[in-house]
Formats: sequence, structure tokens, C-alpha cells
Amino acid sequence: MDIELNEQEQLIIAKIAAAAQELGMESYLVGGFVRDKLLERTTKDADIVCVGDGIELANAVAAKFHPAPRVSFFKNFGTAHINVPMPHTNEPFDIEFVGARKESYRRDSRKPQVQPGSLDDDQKRRDFTINALAISLNKSDYGRLVDPFGGMKHLEEKKIVTPLEPEQTFSDDPLRMMRAIRFATQLNFTIASETLLAISDQAERIKIISQERITDELNKIIKAPKPSIGFDLLYKTGLLQLIFPKMVALAGAEIVDGHGHKDNFYHTLQVLDNVARQSDDLWLRWAAILHDIAKPATKKFEEGHGWTFHGHEVVGGRMVPRIFSELKLPANEKMRFVKKLVELHLRPISLTKEDITDSAIRRLLFDAGEDFDALMTLCEADITSKNRQKVRRYIENFKLVRERCKEVEEKDQIRTWQPPVDGSEIMQLFNLAPSRPVGILKDSLKDAILDGEVANNREAALEFLKAKAREIGVG
Ligand code: CTP
Repeated sequence: MDIELNEQEQLIIAKIAAAAQELGMESYLVGGFVRDKLLERTTKDADIVCVGDGIELANAVAAKFHPAPRVSFFKNFGTAHINVPMPHTNEPFDIEFVGARKESYRRDSRKPQVQPGSLDDDQKRRDFTINALAISLNKSDYGRLVDPFGGMKHLEEKKIVTPLEPEQTFSDDPLRMMRAIRFATQLNFTIASETLLAISDQAERIKIISQERITDELNKIIKAPKPSIGFDLLYKTGLLQLIFPKMVALAGAEIVDGHGHKDNFYHTLQVLDNVARQSDDLWLRWAAILHDIAKPATKKFEEGHGWTFHGHEVVGGRMVPRIFSELKLPANEKMRFVKKLVELHLRPISLTKEDITDSAIRRLLFDAGEDFDALMTLCEADITSKNRQKVRRYIENFKLVRERCKEVEEKDQIRTWQPPVDGSEIMQLFNLAPSRPVGILKDSLKDAILDGEVANNREAALEFLKAKAREIGVG
């Protein structure tokens, strides 16, 4: 074998090879599994290409397992999928089967027709040379690497190259432009210059791809160890302008009267990389991407002051649901988490000043709740000054904020605290329908307790609420 398989994989692959040989079909391991084995990365699922019907092979392989797994298939494409338990560990292992195909052009139509083909035909239709590597499962040359396009060399050179002319490969499936950038980011590879040029030339074609598939690739870029590699490439090829223009609006630095501001696009990328070094959480990384998203909308040049971005955290928080919906990201608690972090991202820094009261600390703990640690990670990542002394000072200050927060939390347990009277009880007490006065009463009770003006118990809370209700004319 030109790749190294563990014992369990060997057992599974041997069953596939035996089934194919019994059917008299050529079969090969191909795609991401071969690539990742050669790179010594962890592998998840395996792709098998056979010269024949993929569904027939899948059925024959399934019959070799007891109990036999269910075979799901797409008749039109001749593809099938099974999920089998790994020997010994029982961990699920996915196998995709596809019959080798080629494209042919009929004279009366510019649309290609897909027909059965050879292994070589199939390899040509794949996206990148490093994904077109195949390992033979045939008796005559079991385990041999079949590499017609220099994929092995490109793995060594850390290069993303298309097997055919890049224009051809990308016009077959424009999502591959995003995939090229995604692999470059995940693997820390460079994209061959003619391949990169073709992406810039054909960027507009990304518009025919569904938002879900685009966002799927974008999330894979964001989950990579250094996501800025991908965003920089998306920006330079013009893809980002098409798929996420609001982020591009952060780019550039205007100068008025000799005053410039920092380029918020590259600042955002730095914050994103900083967060990525601390956490794998996709949504915390999204919070980094969006933390300054409203800077273009709130930017002002104030005489004698320079550039300001007042309220960008509030406006930014409000932009989050719309952006999530445009990008087809979920509208659930993940979105609310990102929104909350964008809204709160300036709060910890305001606590680094001297003479900060316990009540200011308590308010932050209450507002951040269980997301306090994530918020602090974001805020620390937000320090991107080139001045080392400044960075050190900020980090020191944040350390003090964290210590103060820890002390106050130990004393008062604010992060999981809820006021002793809640909104629905307030409605009952004062016979109110959901309305603004309910919010006013609720917030003023919370603030009064956090400020230490009212004791944290029911009697004191009810007394306070009665007085407040009279004051605002509802009691
Ligand atoms: N492929 C392709 N063009 C695409 C998608 C996939 O040519 N637009 C081919 C590639 O050969 C790829 C294989 O199909 O290796 C399997 O695709 P997929 O599972 O999406 O990617 P992997 O390479 O396995 O990588 P990952 O699992 O990291 O997504």
C-alpha cells in the first residue's frame, strides 16, 4: 500500500476490494481519504470509485457486513452510500461509492453529457490534483498509487492545482473556487498562480451556487487554524465582495486632515486569528468577524477628535440577525450568542479604568452571564496594537478585570443569578399586558439590586416594585 491504513480500515477496505473483484469491477480509493492519509491527517469517510455501477458495488459490499447496513443511493448519478461500524470500536465509518464517469459534448448542445468512463476520465473531472489521487484495490496492483496529474508532487510542494485548465474545472462547478481557498486555508497550501487567476476571472459565477453550499465552505474556512488566510484570498479574488459585501465594507482607511483610522478589515482578521488560537468555537469566531461590522455605518470625523465609531457595538448587534439570515446561518441561540458578544464587546475595556465599582462589575457579569469567558476571550483578542508596550498594558488591565470579576462572582454568584421577581409575576402583580412598563419595572429592579440599593430578596423586591410602579403611573 502506498498509504498507511490502520487495522480496522484494512479490514473494511479488504471487504470492498473482495466485493469488487467478485463483480469483476475495477475499484479505487480516491479523494479526501487518500489525500489526508498521505498528509497524515485524520480521515473521516472514504470515497470509492469503480469502473461500473457504484450502486451495484455498494450492495455487494453491504452484503459482506453482518448485519448488512442500509444502502442509500441516487439512481440518476449512480452513487451510493453506506455507513458501517468500525471493527472493534464500532465507530461509524461512511463510505461513498461512485461509478467512474466522463463528460462528452454533443455537437448540437454545449451542455456536457455524463457517461460511464475509465478511472482516468473520472480523475480528470475532479477538482484538484491532490483530490484526484487514487489507490488501486485491484488484485493485479493492490495498493498502488495512481497519480496522473502530479498530485503527489503538489502535496509535497503544498500547492492547490486543477487537473485540467482551471477555467474548465471551475466552470464545471463554481463552488470549487471556494473549495480551493478552503483547502489552502485548512492545509496552509498556496494556490497555483494560474488557478488563482482563474478564480479572480470567474468569481462572478459563484452567484449560481446556493447560499447554503457557499456558507458551508465559509464555515470550514472559519474553523481552520488560521482563518485569515482564506478571507485574504476571498477578498483578493473578489469572491468576498460577492458573498459577504458587508465585511468588505470594513476594508480601507480614510484620511482627513492627516488623521487616518486603522483598516478594520485587516484588524478584524487579526482578531479572528487571535480568537482562533484560543478557541475552536465556530460562533465565537463569528463574533470576532462581526464585532466591528457596524464601523462603516457609524464612522464620523469629528473636528479636534479624529475618527469615531460611536455606538458601533449596538448597531452591530442589531445587524447580526439580518446577516445570519442572508448567509443562511441558523436563527437560534448561536445567533443570539454572537449578537450578545458584538453588543458587549466594549464593556470589559470600560472596566479597565480606575475606581470601578463592584456594581459595574456585577452588571457585566449579569449581562454576559454564562458567556462571560467567551466575551473576555474576544476582548483580549481585540487588542491588535503594534505597540508592544500598549498591548502588554491592556493585557495586564484585563487580567485585573478578570480577577475583580472572579472575586465578585465568588461573593455574589451573579452569572447564574436572576432577580427574585420575574417579568410574568410583574404582569400579574400590576395587571399589565406585555408592554413597555413591564420592561421598565424589570430592568429597574435588576439595576437596583445589582447596584446594591435594594436587598436581593422577595420582600425588598416587591416593596421596590410597588414604589416604582406608582412612580411611573401603573401602580
Ligand atoms: N469533488 C470535486 N468537486 C467538488 C466536490 C468534490 O471534484 N465540487 C471530488 C474531490 O475529488 C473530492 C471528492 O470529490 O476529494 C470528495 O468530496 P468531499 O467529500 O466534498 O471533499 P473531501 O476532499 O473528501 O474533503 P472534506 O471531507 O475535507 O470536505
